[in-house]
Amino acid sequence: MAAVSKTAGALLGTPRVHRWAHRLAPGWREFADEALAVSERHWKQTHQTVAALKRKYEEAVFGRQGIWELVEKLALCVDPTDGELYGASQLIHTRQVVAGMERDGVSDPDFFLAAITHDLGKVLWLLRYHSILIESSRPFMDARDHAYLERYLVPFRKYDQDTKSCCLLPPQNILDKYRDLVERTFPRSLLI
Ligand SMILES: [Fe+2]
Repeated sequence: MAAVSKTAGALLGTPRVHRWAHRLAPGWREFADEALAVSERHWKQTHQTVAALKRKYEEAVFGRQGIWELVEKLALCVDPTDGELYGASQLIHTRQVVAGMERDGVSDPDFFLAAITHDLGKVLWLLRYHSILIESSRPFMDARDHAYLERYLVPFRKYDQDTKSCCLLPPQNILDKYRDLVERTFPRSLLI
């Protein structure tokens, strides 16, 4: 990877290489092809598929879990469709989002709560990979969901998408100082 980064660095400049050099690594093309196949199935989801998945997951699959337990389980979750993370875990992704917010001086605790909890549903991958297409979810969204989408999801995407990298490893303990905030906000375990 170092050799690839050096060559690509001369062509693209260091900041872009930091995010894109892994695409030149052996195996990336195969990963990208498989990711594309999964994504194509994702985009073919109908409202009926989403409704069936919603029914399926009305039954708890893990039982009661503390929020922080679920955060830690993200270390076991890898998104097979995410060519930016390219095998880096969802816990590393979460740390990257938090690091990006800290770098920008974000101070709203709600954004840090969103950063730490936004991908918790992905722990279901430990049983089976499913990602619901948000456009097909609109019929199930109420006014509160739409307001949430505008207030949080739209500004949050900047961090969720733009901090992704398989080459960036934020400090291992970066989430620790937010544990108290998460546990105060979500004192009860979750049935999942
Ligand atoms: Fe995310």
